[in-house]
Amino acid sequence: MSLPSKVKIVEVGPRDGLQNEKENVPADVKIELVNRLTAAGFANIEAASFVSPKWIPQMATSREVMAGIVRKPGVIYSALTPNMQGFEAALAAGAGEVVIFGAASEAFSQRNINCSIAESITRFEPVAKAAKEHGLRLRASVSTAFGCPYQGEVPLESVAYVVARMRDLGCDEIDIADTIGVATPRKTQAVMQAAIGEFRIDGLSGHFHDTYGQALVNIYAALELGITIFHSSVAGLGGCPYAKGATGNVATEDVLYMMNGLGIETGVDLDAVVDAGAFISQFLGRKGASRVGNAILAKRAG
Ligand code: HMG
Ligand code: MG
Repeated sequence: MSLPSKVKIVEVGPRDGLQNEKENVPADVKIELVNRLTAAGFANIEAASFVSPKWIPQMATSREVMAGIVRKPGVIYSALTPNMQGFEAALAAGAGEVVIFGAASEAFSQRNINCSIAESITRFEPVAKAAKEHGLRLRASVSTAFGCPYQGEVPLESVAYVVARMRDLGCDEIDIADTIGVATPRKTQAVMQAAIGEFRIDGLSGHFHDTYGQALVNIYAALELGITIFHSSVAGLGGCPYAKGATGNVATEDVLYMMNGLGIETGVDLDAVVDAGAFISQFLGRKGASRVGNAILAKRAG
């Protein structure tokens, strides 16, 4: 089966990665990270999250981060916006894309955003409308599409249902998220097929966490279906505050190494991402979680 010749990698480390850090990461460190990622060549960086600081304290500096980064023309800097309060803040901060985030499982929706799936869609309606009015890109994330830490199995119909509702809201892109990293390749294809049944394939993305070490092979399985957008996190930063034990997103360095090996164009410089990973890992005082990043650093030191 032929694979796509080009993919878009959305770097989510500054948001999905750092939101889970217990230690406060100051705004200037986040700004430096985003600037390094911009220089590495990403077309889309998830830089901020305008959510309740009581729920996610680490994202409380989002306004400063958005104000401090050096923006490269053409690069989309995205921000999470669960409601109108978040939208207004993202708009004022100059986000190029706002992200509404729901779930395919009721239990996770309640824990993560404190409302049912149906209520969340109602909450997203004004956000979607406002995004369109202001000419902002609108993206939606569908959490727990492959399994839920609270309810376990998530039926394919639930994924299809939420994707269809996000489509009806006018989303430009929809992320199918493996919040707790439990998917395997055939499961990935089944869930992606359910999403493809409801939304254009070139607007669907795979957002894989790597808890069970399956993320790369799941990305490959999604590539086989023709999915061309993937999310990843520099140095494999992250986890999910509402999914105990879940580790970070698949590491960007690992995804880039695989794409390079497959001859799939990403537009991103792997060496520059390794440097960005080393920078943030050094700040956090630990070894990065990217196997590729660590291998390249070891080789350089060698
Ligand atoms: P709520 O408590 O149900 O809402 O929160 P509320 O409207 O009753 O507001 C309560 C308080 O929050 C009020 O403050 C509001 O002002 C404040 P108080 O009067 O008590 O001082 N508030 C806000 N403050 C700042 N920005 C806002 C905002 N909205 C309300 N936008 C809410 C509902 C969704 C806001 C809350 O539950 C929340 O912020 N949850 C955090 C969810 C979150 O950020 N989760 C992590 C990101 S999702 C993720 O990581 C998954 C993803 O990566 C994909 C995957 O892997 O699955 C995307
Ligand atoms: Mg995530």
